[in-house]
Amino acid sequence: MKIKRILKWSFSAISLVLLLWLFIAYWASTNDCNRNAAAPTNPMKAIRYCEYGSPDVVKLDDVQKPVPDDNQVLIKIRAASLNALDAYMIRDAWLNRLIFGLRKPRDTRLGRDVAGQVEAVGKNVTQFKPGDEVFGICRGSLAEYAVTPERALVIKPLNISFEQAASVSLAGLTALQGLREGKIQPGQKVLINGATGGVGTFAVQIAKSFGAEVTAICSTRNLDLIRSIGADRVIDYTKEDFTKSDQRYDVIFDNVCNHSFTERRRVLTPKGICVLAGMGGAGVKEGQAIGRIAGNLFIARGLSSFTDQKFAQYMTKMSKQDLIMLGELIQAGKVRPVIERTYKLNDAPEALRQLDAGHARGKLVITIG
Ligand SMILES: NC(=O)c1ccc[n+]([C@@H]2O[C@H](COP(=O)([O-])OP(=O)(O)OC[C@H]3O[C@@H](n4cnc5c(N)ncnc54)[C@H](OP(=O)(O)O)[C@@H]3O)[C@@H](O)[C@H]2O)c1
Repeated sequence: MKIKRILKWSFSAISLVLLLWLFIAYWASTNDCNRNAAAPTNPMKAIRYCEYGSPDVVKLDDVQKPVPDDNQVLIKIRAASLNALDAYMIRDAWLNRLIFGLRKPRDTRLGRDVAGQVEAVGKNVTQFKPGDEVFGICRGSLAEYAVTPERALVIKPLNISFEQAASVSLAGLTALQGLREGKIQPGQKVLINGATGGVGTFAVQIAKSFGAEVTAICSTRNLDLIRSIGADRVIDYTKEDFTKSDQRYDVIFDNVCNHSFTERRRVLTPKGICVLAGMGGAGVKEGQAIGRIAGNLFIARGLSSFTDQKFAQYMTKMSKQDLIMLGELIQAGKVRPVIERTYKLNDAPEALRQLDAGHARGKLVITIG
Protein backbone atom coordinates (compact mmCIF):
# COMPACT_ATOMS: atom_id res chain seq x y z
CA MET A 1 0.00 0.00 0.00
CA LYS A 2 2.80 2.33 1.04
CA ILE A 3 4.80 1.63 -2.17
CA LYS A 4 1.68 2.27 -4.25
CA ARG A 5 1.19 5.64 -2.56
CA ILE A 6 4.88 6.59 -3.03
CA LEU A 7 4.67 5.67 -6.74
CA LYS A 8 1.50 7.75 -7.13
CA TRP A 9 3.09 10.76 -5.47
CA SER A 10 6.31 10.41 -7.52
CA PHE A 11 4.30 10.23 -10.74
CA SER A 12 2.34 13.37 -9.82
CA ALA A 13 5.55 15.23 -8.84
CA ILE A 14 7.29 14.28 -12.12
CA SER A 15 4.22 15.31 -14.17
CA LEU A 16 4.11 18.64 -12.33
CA VAL A 17 7.81 19.31 -12.93
CA LEU A 18 7.43 18.41 -16.63
CA LEU A 19 4.42 20.69 -16.99
CA LEU A 20 6.28 23.51 -15.27
CA TRP A 21 9.32 22.94 -17.51
CA LEU A 22 7.12 22.98 -20.64
CA PHE A 23 5.44 26.19 -19.47
CA ILE A 24 8.81 27.89 -18.79
CA ALA A 25 10.32 26.56 -22.05
CA TYR A 26 7.31 27.89 -23.96
CA TRP A 27 7.49 31.40 -22.50
CA ALA A 28 11.30 31.51 -22.55
CA SER A 29 11.30 30.67 -26.26
CA THR A 30 11.41 34.11 -27.77
CA ASN A 31 13.41 36.08 -30.31
CA ASP A 32 15.17 39.42 -30.69
CA CYS A 33 12.27 41.17 -32.45
CA ASN A 34 11.06 42.99 -29.34
CA ARG A 35 14.22 42.85 -27.24
CA ASN A 36 16.18 45.15 -29.54
CA ALA A 37 13.88 48.12 -29.24
CA ALA A 38 16.91 50.46 -29.62
CA ALA A 39 17.92 51.15 -33.23
CA PRO A 40 20.81 49.00 -34.49
CA THR A 41 24.17 50.79 -34.34
CA ASN A 42 25.33 49.46 -37.72
CA PRO A 43 22.07 48.77 -39.54
CA MET A 44 21.24 46.80 -42.67
CA LYS A 45 17.96 45.79 -44.30
CA ALA A 46 16.85 42.20 -43.74
CA ILE A 47 13.75 40.08 -44.07
CA ARG A 48 12.58 38.66 -40.74
CA TYR A 49 9.74 36.52 -39.44
CA CYS A 50 9.04 37.31 -35.79
CA GLU A 51 6.00 35.00 -35.53
CA TYR A 52 4.91 31.81 -37.25
CA GLY A 53 2.16 32.17 -39.83
CA SER A 54 1.48 32.85 -43.51
CA PRO A 55 3.89 34.80 -45.77
CA ASP A 56 2.16 37.94 -44.39
CA VAL A 57 4.24 37.64 -41.16
CA VAL A 58 7.43 38.22 -43.16
CA LYS A 59 8.66 41.83 -43.07
CA LEU A 60 11.58 44.03 -44.06
CA ASP A 61 13.37 45.43 -40.99
CA ASP A 62 16.50 47.33 -39.98
CA VAL A 63 18.77 44.91 -38.10
CA GLN A 64 22.36 44.85 -36.92
CA LYS A 65 24.85 44.13 -39.74
CA PRO A 66 26.64 40.85 -38.90
CA VAL A 67 30.37 40.66 -38.12
CA PRO A 68 32.31 37.57 -39.31
CA ASP A 69 34.08 35.44 -36.70
CA ASP A 70 37.58 34.05 -37.38
CA ASN A 71 36.25 31.26 -39.65
CA GLN A 72 33.54 33.20 -41.45
CA VAL A 73 33.12 35.22 -44.62
CA LEU A 74 30.99 38.39 -44.68
CA ILE A 75 29.06 38.55 -47.98
CA LYS A 76 27.56 41.66 -49.52
CA ILE A 77 24.51 39.92 -50.97
CA ARG A 78 23.51 40.66 -54.55
CA ALA A 79 20.85 37.98 -54.96
CA ALA A 80 19.16 35.19 -53.02
CA SER A 81 16.69 32.54 -54.09
CA LEU A 82 13.78 30.89 -52.30
CA ASN A 83 13.36 27.19 -51.56
CA ALA A 84 10.49 25.06 -50.26
CA LEU A 85 12.36 25.09 -46.90
CA ASP A 86 11.96 28.89 -46.55
CA ALA A 87 8.24 28.70 -47.22
CA TYR A 88 7.90 25.81 -44.78
CA MET A 89 9.92 27.35 -41.91
CA ILE A 90 7.53 30.24 -41.39
CA ARG A 91 4.47 27.97 -41.12
CA ASP A 92 2.67 27.51 -37.82
CA ALA A 93 3.22 23.73 -37.68
CA TRP A 94 3.92 21.76 -34.48
CA LEU A 95 7.14 20.31 -35.96
CA ASN A 96 8.39 23.82 -36.72
CA ARG A 97 7.67 24.85 -33.11
CA LEU A 98 9.61 21.84 -31.82
CA ILE A 99 12.60 22.52 -34.09
CA PHE A 100 12.73 26.30 -34.45
CA GLY A 101 11.20 27.56 -31.16
CA LEU A 102 8.09 26.66 -29.17
CA ARG A 103 6.39 30.06 -28.94
CA LYS A 104 8.27 32.11 -31.55
CA PRO A 105 11.02 31.25 -34.04
CA ARG A 106 14.36 31.65 -32.17
CA ASP A 107 16.23 32.65 -35.35
CA THR A 108 14.21 35.21 -37.28
CA ARG A 109 16.43 35.24 -40.36
CA LEU A 110 15.14 33.76 -43.62
CA GLY A 111 16.80 32.47 -46.81
CA ARG A 112 19.59 29.99 -47.55
CA ASP A 113 20.73 30.36 -51.18
CA VAL A 114 23.07 33.27 -51.74
CA ALA A 115 25.27 35.00 -54.33
CA GLY A 116 27.31 38.13 -53.78
CA GLN A 117 30.69 39.70 -53.17
CA VAL A 118 33.03 38.97 -50.30
CA GLU A 119 33.14 42.09 -48.10
CA ALA A 120 35.46 40.84 -45.33
CA VAL A 121 36.96 37.60 -44.06
CA GLY A 122 37.87 36.20 -40.62
CA LYS A 123 41.55 35.64 -39.81
CA ASN A 124 41.42 31.84 -40.45
CA VAL A 125 39.77 32.15 -43.87
CA THR A 126 42.24 31.20 -46.62
CA GLN A 127 40.16 30.56 -49.75
CA PHE A 128 38.51 33.95 -50.25
CA LYS A 129 39.43 37.63 -50.16
CA PRO A 130 37.38 40.84 -50.28
CA GLY A 131 35.96 41.44 -53.76
CA ASP A 132 35.63 37.75 -54.74
CA GLU A 133 32.30 36.90 -56.39
CA VAL A 134 30.82 33.83 -54.70
CA PHE A 135 27.71 31.70 -54.37
CA GLY A 136 26.63 29.07 -51.86
CA ILE A 137 24.62 28.66 -48.69
CA CYS A 138 24.23 30.87 -45.60
CA ARG A 139 21.69 31.59 -42.87
CA GLY A 140 19.63 34.69 -43.55
CA SER A 141 20.36 35.34 -47.23
CA LEU A 142 17.28 37.59 -47.55
CA ALA A 143 19.33 40.55 -46.32
CA GLU A 144 21.94 43.04 -47.46
CA TYR A 145 24.74 41.13 -45.68
CA ALA A 146 25.23 37.68 -44.17
CA VAL A 147 28.06 35.60 -42.70
CA THR A 148 28.84 31.97 -43.46
CA PRO A 149 31.77 29.52 -43.10
CA GLU A 150 34.10 29.39 -46.12
CA ARG A 151 33.23 25.71 -46.69
CA ALA A 152 29.69 26.80 -47.68
CA LEU A 153 30.87 29.04 -50.55
CA VAL A 154 32.50 28.65 -53.96
CA ILE A 155 33.61 31.12 -56.64
CA LYS A 156 30.79 32.19 -58.99
CA PRO A 157 31.17 31.04 -62.60
CA LEU A 158 32.00 34.04 -64.82
CA ASN A 159 29.33 33.26 -67.41
CA ILE A 160 26.33 33.71 -65.12
CA SER A 161 24.70 36.62 -63.29
CA PHE A 162 24.38 36.92 -59.50
CA GLU A 163 20.66 36.08 -59.90
CA GLN A 164 21.48 32.83 -61.73
CA ALA A 165 24.23 31.95 -59.25
CA ALA A 166 21.84 32.54 -56.33
CA SER A 167 19.42 29.99 -57.75
CA VAL A 168 21.90 27.11 -57.86
CA SER A 169 22.77 25.85 -54.38
CA LEU A 170 19.94 24.01 -52.60
CA ALA A 171 17.99 23.04 -55.72
CA GLY A 172 21.14 22.03 -57.63
CA LEU A 173 22.52 20.01 -54.68
CA THR A 174 19.12 18.32 -54.19
CA ALA A 175 19.00 17.33 -57.87
CA LEU A 176 22.63 16.17 -58.04
CA GLN A 177 22.63 14.22 -54.77
CA GLY A 178 19.20 12.71 -55.55
CA LEU A 179 20.30 11.47 -58.97
CA ARG A 180 23.32 9.89 -57.27
CA GLU A 181 20.93 8.16 -54.82
CA GLY A 182 19.26 6.77 -57.95
CA LYS A 183 22.67 5.42 -59.07
CA ILE A 184 22.16 7.10 -62.46
CA GLN A 185 24.19 5.64 -65.38
CA PRO A 186 24.70 6.80 -68.99
CA GLY A 187 22.03 5.45 -71.36
CA GLN A 188 19.51 4.79 -68.58
CA LYS A 189 15.90 5.85 -68.89
CA VAL A 190 15.22 8.48 -66.24
CA LEU A 191 11.82 10.02 -65.47
CA ILE A 192 11.62 13.36 -63.62
CA ASN A 193 8.25 14.12 -62.03
CA GLY A 194 7.82 17.84 -61.21
CA ALA A 195 10.40 18.68 -63.86
CA THR A 196 9.81 22.40 -64.18
CA GLY A 197 10.26 23.56 -60.56
CA GLY A 198 13.42 24.68 -58.82
CA VAL A 199 14.80 21.17 -58.29
CA GLY A 200 13.28 19.64 -61.43
CA THR A 201 14.89 22.05 -63.92
CA PHE A 202 18.31 21.18 -62.44
CA ALA A 203 17.50 17.44 -62.33
CA VAL A 204 16.58 17.34 -66.05
CA GLN A 205 19.80 19.06 -67.10
CA ILE A 206 22.09 17.16 -64.70
CA ALA A 207 20.56 13.81 -65.77
CA LYS A 208 21.23 14.77 -69.41
CA SER A 209 24.83 15.70 -68.52
CA PHE A 210 25.22 12.15 -67.10
CA GLY A 211 24.14 10.77 -70.51
CA ALA A 212 20.67 9.61 -69.45
CA GLU A 213 17.56 9.58 -71.66
CA VAL A 214 15.22 11.93 -69.85
CA THR A 215 11.42 11.92 -69.75
CA ALA A 216 9.99 15.00 -68.03
CA ILE A 217 6.55 15.36 -66.44
CA CYS A 218 5.03 18.85 -66.47
CA SER A 219 1.83 20.78 -67.18
CA THR A 220 0.78 22.15 -70.57
CA ARG A 221 2.12 25.68 -70.02
CA ASN A 222 5.63 24.34 -69.39
CA LEU A 223 6.04 22.04 -72.42
CA ASP A 224 8.24 24.49 -74.33
CA LEU A 225 10.34 25.36 -71.27
CA ILE A 226 11.13 21.73 -70.52
CA ARG A 227 12.06 20.98 -74.15
CA SER A 228 14.33 24.04 -74.17
CA ILE A 229 16.41 22.60 -71.32
CA GLY A 230 16.96 19.30 -73.09
CA ALA A 231 14.31 16.73 -72.06
CA ASP A 232 14.11 13.92 -74.65
CA ARG A 233 10.44 13.14 -73.98
CA VAL A 234 7.78 15.24 -72.31
CA ILE A 235 4.52 14.06 -70.75
CA ASP A 236 1.81 16.60 -69.97
CA TYR A 237 0.38 15.36 -66.67
CA THR A 238 -2.95 17.12 -67.33
CA LYS A 239 -3.49 14.82 -70.34
CA GLU A 240 -1.62 11.61 -69.57
CA ASP A 241 -0.75 9.63 -66.44
CA PHE A 242 2.81 8.30 -66.76
CA THR A 243 2.07 5.40 -64.41
CA LYS A 244 -0.48 4.02 -66.92
CA SER A 245 1.96 3.77 -69.84
CA ASP A 246 3.96 0.67 -70.89
CA GLN A 247 7.29 2.54 -70.68
CA ARG A 248 9.65 1.41 -67.87
CA TYR A 249 12.28 3.60 -66.17
CA ASP A 250 15.58 2.75 -64.46
CA VAL A 251 15.30 5.84 -62.28
CA ILE A 252 12.28 7.90 -61.25
CA PHE A 253 13.26 11.22 -59.64
CA ASP A 254 10.06 12.21 -57.87
CA ASN A 255 9.63 15.84 -56.79
CA VAL A 256 5.88 15.52 -56.29
CA CYS A 257 5.15 12.01 -54.91
CA ASN A 258 1.52 12.22 -56.08
CA HIS A 259 1.27 8.56 -57.20
CA SER A 260 0.99 5.46 -55.05
CA PHE A 261 3.96 3.14 -54.49
CA THR A 262 2.18 0.42 -56.54
CA GLU A 263 1.69 2.81 -59.47
CA ARG A 264 5.34 3.86 -59.41
CA ARG A 265 6.58 0.26 -59.08
CA ARG A 266 4.59 -0.60 -62.22
CA VAL A 267 6.70 1.75 -64.34
CA LEU A 268 10.07 0.96 -62.70
CA THR A 269 12.36 -1.64 -64.28
CA PRO A 270 12.76 -4.79 -62.10
CA LYS A 271 15.81 -3.28 -60.37
CA GLY A 272 14.77 0.35 -60.81
CA ILE A 273 15.13 3.06 -58.16
CA CYS A 274 12.57 5.73 -57.31
CA VAL A 275 14.19 8.70 -55.57
CA LEU A 276 11.75 10.41 -53.21
CA ALA A 277 13.01 13.99 -53.44
CA GLY A 278 9.71 15.73 -52.69
CA MET A 279 8.01 13.52 -50.12
CA GLY A 280 5.89 16.42 -48.84
CA GLY A 281 4.47 17.11 -52.33
CA ALA A 282 4.48 20.24 -54.48
CA GLY A 283 3.79 23.49 -52.61
CA VAL A 284 3.37 23.72 -48.86
CA LYS A 285 0.20 22.18 -47.49
CA GLU A 286 -0.11 22.81 -43.79
CA GLY A 287 -0.93 19.76 -41.75
CA GLN A 288 -0.65 17.41 -44.73
CA ALA A 289 3.08 17.55 -45.38
CA ILE A 290 4.24 15.85 -42.14
CA GLY A 291 1.75 13.00 -42.52
CA ARG A 292 2.74 12.46 -46.15
CA ILE A 293 6.45 12.48 -45.34
CA ALA A 294 6.03 10.02 -42.44
CA GLY A 295 3.88 7.70 -44.61
CA ASN A 296 6.35 7.85 -47.50
CA LEU A 297 9.30 7.13 -45.19
CA PHE A 298 7.59 4.15 -43.58
CA ILE A 299 6.37 2.47 -46.79
CA ALA A 300 9.62 3.23 -48.68
CA ARG A 301 11.71 1.53 -45.96
CA GLY A 302 9.44 -1.52 -45.95
CA LEU A 303 9.22 -1.95 -49.72
CA SER A 304 12.95 -1.42 -50.27
CA SER A 305 13.74 -4.21 -47.77
CA PHE A 306 11.54 -6.79 -49.49
CA THR A 307 11.73 -6.05 -53.25
CA ASP A 308 14.50 -5.43 -55.80
CA GLN A 309 12.90 -2.11 -56.72
CA LYS A 310 14.11 0.57 -54.31
CA PHE A 311 12.57 3.77 -52.96
CA ALA A 312 15.46 6.02 -51.91
CA GLN A 313 15.09 8.86 -49.37
CA TYR A 314 17.77 11.40 -48.58
CA MET A 315 18.37 14.81 -47.05
CA THR A 316 20.27 17.33 -49.13
CA LYS A 317 23.71 17.99 -47.61
CA MET A 318 25.97 21.00 -48.01
CA SER A 319 28.96 19.78 -50.03
CA LYS A 320 31.61 22.14 -51.34
CA GLN A 321 32.73 19.46 -53.81
CA ASP A 322 29.20 19.23 -55.23
CA LEU A 323 28.88 23.03 -55.42
CA ILE A 324 32.14 23.11 -57.38
CA MET A 325 30.78 20.40 -59.71
CA LEU A 326 27.58 22.39 -60.27
CA GLY A 327 29.68 25.48 -61.03
CA GLU A 328 31.69 23.47 -63.58
CA LEU A 329 28.52 22.13 -65.27
CA ILE A 330 27.26 25.71 -65.54
CA GLN A 331 30.63 27.01 -66.77
CA ALA A 332 30.63 24.26 -69.45
CA GLY A 333 27.13 25.30 -70.56
CA LYS A 334 25.63 21.89 -69.62
CA VAL A 335 23.37 23.37 -66.96
CA ARG A 336 21.56 26.70 -67.14
CA PRO A 337 19.72 27.97 -64.06
CA VAL A 338 16.09 28.71 -64.93
CA ILE A 339 14.50 31.74 -63.25
CA GLU A 340 10.77 32.40 -63.37
CA ARG A 341 10.87 35.86 -61.87
CA THR A 342 13.01 38.22 -59.81
CA TYR A 343 11.61 40.23 -56.88
CA LYS A 344 12.86 43.15 -54.78
CA LEU A 345 13.76 42.41 -51.13
CA ASN A 346 10.55 44.01 -49.82
CA ASP A 347 8.50 41.81 -52.18
CA ALA A 348 9.67 38.63 -50.41
CA PRO A 349 6.15 37.89 -49.02
CA GLU A 350 4.76 37.91 -52.58
CA ALA A 351 7.54 35.56 -53.74
CA LEU A 352 6.82 33.19 -50.80
CA ARG A 353 3.11 33.14 -51.68
CA GLN A 354 4.02 32.26 -55.27
CA LEU A 355 6.27 29.41 -54.06
CA ASP A 356 3.51 28.11 -51.76
CA ALA A 357 1.25 27.59 -54.76
CA GLY A 358 3.54 24.74 -55.92
CA HIS A 359 3.80 25.71 -59.59
CA ALA A 360 7.06 27.65 -59.82
CA ARG A 361 8.79 27.61 -63.21
CA GLY A 362 12.39 27.20 -62.15
CA LYS A 363 13.54 29.47 -59.33
CA LEU A 364 12.14 32.60 -57.69
CA VAL A 365 14.97 35.03 -57.03
CA ILE A 366 15.26 38.10 -54.79
CA THR A 367 17.54 40.83 -56.10
CA ILE A 368 19.32 42.86 -53.40
CA GLY A 369 21.08 46.17 -53.58
N1 LIG B 1 15.12 15.79 -50.15
C1 LIG B 1 15.53 17.02 -49.80
O1 LIG B 1 16.44 17.19 -48.96
C2 LIG B 1 14.90 18.21 -50.47
C3 LIG B 1 15.62 19.42 -50.63
C4 LIG B 1 15.01 20.47 -51.30
C5 LIG B 1 13.70 20.30 -51.77
N2 LIG B 1 13.02 19.15 -51.54
C6 LIG B 1 11.64 18.93 -52.01
O2 LIG B 1 11.65 18.77 -53.41
C7 LIG B 1 10.35 19.12 -53.93
C8 LIG B 1 10.52 20.00 -55.14
O3 LIG B 1 11.06 21.23 -54.74
P1 LIG B 1 11.07 22.45 -55.75
O4 LIG B 1 11.89 23.51 -55.12
O5 LIG B 1 11.43 21.99 -57.11
O6 LIG B 1 9.51 22.87 -55.76
P2 LIG B 1 8.84 23.93 -56.72
O7 LIG B 1 9.86 24.82 -57.31
O8 LIG B 1 7.70 24.52 -55.96
O9 LIG B 1 8.25 23.06 -57.93
C9 LIG B 1 7.13 22.26 -57.81
C10 LIG B 1 6.95 21.55 -59.17
O10 LIG B 1 5.94 20.55 -59.01
C11 LIG B 1 5.19 20.52 -60.21
N3 LIG B 1 3.86 19.96 -59.97
C12 LIG B 1 2.86 20.47 -59.20
N4 LIG B 1 1.82 19.63 -59.24
C13 LIG B 1 2.18 18.59 -60.04
C14 LIG B 1 1.53 17.38 -60.48
N5 LIG B 1 0.29 17.10 -60.09
N6 LIG B 1 2.21 16.52 -61.28
C15 LIG B 1 3.47 16.80 -61.68
N7 LIG B 1 4.13 17.92 -61.32
C16 LIG B 1 3.49 18.80 -60.51
C17 LIG B 1 5.12 21.95 -60.70
O11 LIG B 1 4.97 21.93 -62.12
P3 LIG B 1 3.69 22.57 -62.87
O12 LIG B 1 3.75 24.05 -62.62
O13 LIG B 1 3.89 22.19 -64.30
O14 LIG B 1 2.47 21.97 -62.24
C18 LIG B 1 6.50 22.46 -60.31
O15 LIG B 1 7.37 22.26 -61.38
C19 LIG B 1 9.59 19.80 -52.75
O16 LIG B 1 8.67 18.88 -52.21
C20 LIG B 1 10.71 20.08 -51.75
O17 LIG B 1 10.20 20.08 -50.43
C21 LIG B 1 13.61 18.11 -50.93
